[in-house]
Amino acid sequence: MKKTVVLGVSGGIAAFKAAQLTSNLIKKGYDVEVIMTQNATEFITPLTFESLTKHNVMVSTFEKVADRSVKHISIAHRADIFVLVPATANVIAKIVHGLADDMLTTTFLAADCPKVICPAMNTGMYENPVTQKNLEAAKALGYELVEPEVGYLACGDTGKGKLADITHIEECICRILETTGLLRGKRVLVTAGPTREALDPVRFISNHSSGKMGYEIARAARDMGADVTLISGPVQLNVPHGVRVVQVVSAQDMFEAVQKEYADCDIIIKAAAVGDYRAQKTEENKIKKQGEFLEITFVKNPDILAWLGEHRVSNQIICGFAMETEHLLEHAAEKLNRKNCDMIVANNLHEQGAGFQGDTNVVTLLQKNHTETLDLMSKYEVGVEILTRLAALSKERGEA
Ligand code: PMT
Repeated sequence: MKKTVVLGVSGGIAAFKAAQLTSNLIKKGYDVEVIMTQNATEFITPLTFESLTKHNVMVSTFEKVADRSVKHISIAHRADIFVLVPATANVIAKIVHGLADDMLTTTFLAADCPKVICPAMNTGMYENPVTQKNLEAAKALGYELVEPEVGYLACGDTGKGKLADITHIEECICRILETTGLLRGKRVLVTAGPTREALDPVRFISNHSSGKMGYEIARAARDMGADVTLISGPVQLNVPHGVRVVQVVSAQDMFEAVQKEYADCDIIIKAAAVGDYRAQKTEENKIKKQGEFLEITFVKNPDILAWLGEHRVSNQIICGFAMETEHLLEHAAEKLNRKNCDMIVANNLHEQGAGFQGDTNVVTLLQKNHTETLDLMSKYEVGVEILTRLAALSKERGEA
């Protein structure tokens, strides 16, 4: 059966680009239903979309429908994906606050499918803190954002706010449609962020992990239909909607949380940057300044990934990461074997766009008989690539 893309078009000059997108999606074999705001019809006529989709375009909530079905509910039920192209500041503000005062926003609210927002507006409107706050709220609600580009805008300004390239939007839609449901029925455990190893009540040693890589994997796993648990070190990120989180601080806390959670998980991904050592003794009181040197003895923390490799439950898929600054592939391959993993995701701190804190990564995926390096991509996209491969491995193992 054809998958249904519901395309919500709101009133901005970029509305005409939605027609090209519609045509491309139809050529790919998708069924496209278009809902327009009244304002959008000032920029492009419904007839354009009707000619392309062979469906009536919905604008008013109160239009009569031949079979007397409640139109916005029946479309919401049929939607495999809901995409807003272009999404104006006004429509974004409405949907993140649950407003439903026209056909587009009513159907959006009723739909329970992956949702993609492609903002396009004047730079000032885009950069306004209110819009930025609404976009953050949209992300926290689990909607995928296809960021606008920097360019010359119809109003004569140059800046960020130009609708993303249609090809990029199309790729995003196809990726979601192809991967949604791949992990349905699977339990996925992800660890993320740094650990903190206390020296005294005031100080700790830690690392630069922001948690973004692990959080984006968790978000991708949720979007692919999994039941996701995230064990997180201390980070400044919103937990993706629908993901269960267990907050931890130290490596020992993370170890205990993993031991509690791992047994009934189908796929485990260890993206956390776990401290290898902790102070042998955590002082009860603040360590006072003393002499030129301070000696602290560190002892080894449990290697959680290696423990998982030893205690693997049948058919379980285990994926670790390797963060290296040299000899990336040799070190990663050594970890793959020693820690008994199915996959190691290797990233190099010195590579542009890779590693700690940024929104992108460049990774090489090592499996027992196969190694592949992926292009620079967002951490969310890296998550989808990893999970797609792990889902295939999990299926193979289940069938063997
Ligand atoms: O959080 P971000 O800012 O987005 O940055 C992402 C990242 C760089 C932290 C992430 O992409 C990454 O590489 N995570 C693993 C970092 C790391 O600890 O690498 P490692 O090579 O030291 O450890 C190898 C593997 O063993 C990792 O899966 C790690 O979780 C695990 N490990 C390590 C030590 C330990 N005591 N227990 C473990 O389970």
